[in-house]
Amino acid sequence: MSIDSDTPLYNGLTASVPGLPAAWYFDPAQHAREMATLWRKNWLYVARSEVFPNPGAFRTLTVGDQNYLVVRGRSGSLRGFHNTCRHRGSLLCEAAEGQLGVSGRIVCPYHQWTYDTEDGVLLRTSSFAEPEGFDKSVHGLFQVAVVEWRGCVFLHPDLDTPWDANTAFQRPADNFANFPLETMVVGHTWHAEMSCNWKTFWENFNECLHCPAVHPELTELVPLYGRRIIHPRDVPDWGVHVQSNDPRYRGGLRDGAETWSMDGSAQGHAIQSLTSEERARGQTYASTWPSVFIAGYADHVRIVSLRPLGPERTELVAEWLFQPETLADSTYNIENVVDFGRLVMEQDAKACELNQRGLHAAPLKAGVLMPEEYLVERFHNWIRAGLVL
Ligand code: FES
Ligand SMILES: [Fe+2]
Repeated sequence: MSIDSDTPLYNGLTASVPGLPAAWYFDPAQHAREMATLWRKNWLYVARSEVFPNPGAFRTLTVGDQNYLVVRGRSGSLRGFHNTCRHRGSLLCEAAEGQLGVSGRIVCPYHQWTYDTEDGVLLRTSSFAEPEGFDKSVHGLFQVAVVEWRGCVFLHPDLDTPWDANTAFQRPADNFANFPLETMVVGHTWHAEMSCNWKTFWENFNECLHCPAVHPELTELVPLYGRRIIHPRDVPDWGVHVQSNDPRYRGGLRDGAETWSMDGSAQGHAIQSLTSEERARGQTYASTWPSVFIAGYADHVRIVSLRPLGPERTELVAEWLFQPETLADSTYNIENVVDFGRLVMEQDAKACELNQRGLHAAPLKAGVLMPEEYLVERFHNWIRAGLVL
């Protein structure tokens, strides 16, 4: 499903729609169901390719009760496995990231079974002899699918799922065709934990009804957001203003601003491969539920990924990407964009946490969606459809 290409002329909902059951935001059984379905049957963002510079470089990723190991194999390709030894099930790599030892092999810390990075084949056990009937070839690591897409690493727990960028993203990745994603590098990373359900985060991301009250600085920078909408066609009478050059109606940044930064300046580092229309748009989004959205601006890209830590706890990782020449310019003030993005995310996190706390009211069976929340409805439909075990 493509959000942009599927939208009719008027984007909004034409009838009120009930939200998901309130208990789905805190009930442990529902959470377990979502982890076993939505978080196991979709591509999940891992990291940027640059964190795997050499063969043997690895990262582990905990998603609910599953733990995955992604490692650059001997051949230079990334490989993914369940981070679990086939002997008696020990975790293989405890660290969140690192470099395999000189052997370049995966060695279980418990009894030292040793696996090849390329395909997870069991190379040797540590017993004095292998018993009759023991077949090494059926005791390789459980593999998962891994793909590098434009410098972004994704994994899918099902090894046989083919990667297709056209279907993996709800907000289409085509939007990023002119961003030099492959060569951009991470200039800053921010980790945060929010006391909210992971769905609360996505709902907040998918509407701007909250923007004027929650984001005073952002609504000044993106005047359209001050109208509580994210697209000019989010109101039924959008046609009245179709010729308007006022950013409150046409979208884009306030006059004089170039990017999402504290002062609106791109400091002379606008990405040259973007068209003037793309730069004027102010922000460009791609998202793939449930784990990540990518936001592009005139001079940088921000990748925000999330992982549930529990029914009411969610980890957020934001990575700011820049062109190498931007980071090499000692006069470029990276805080100008980092501080702004962080301000907006902290405001959103606070709103999500408030939302989460209120959801426990005993009489509340479900919320209700208003016209501007059409993307929240799509998210809810995606949730309901994906809950099949
Ligand atoms: S559990 Fe890994 S070698 Fe025993
Ligand atoms: Fe927000």
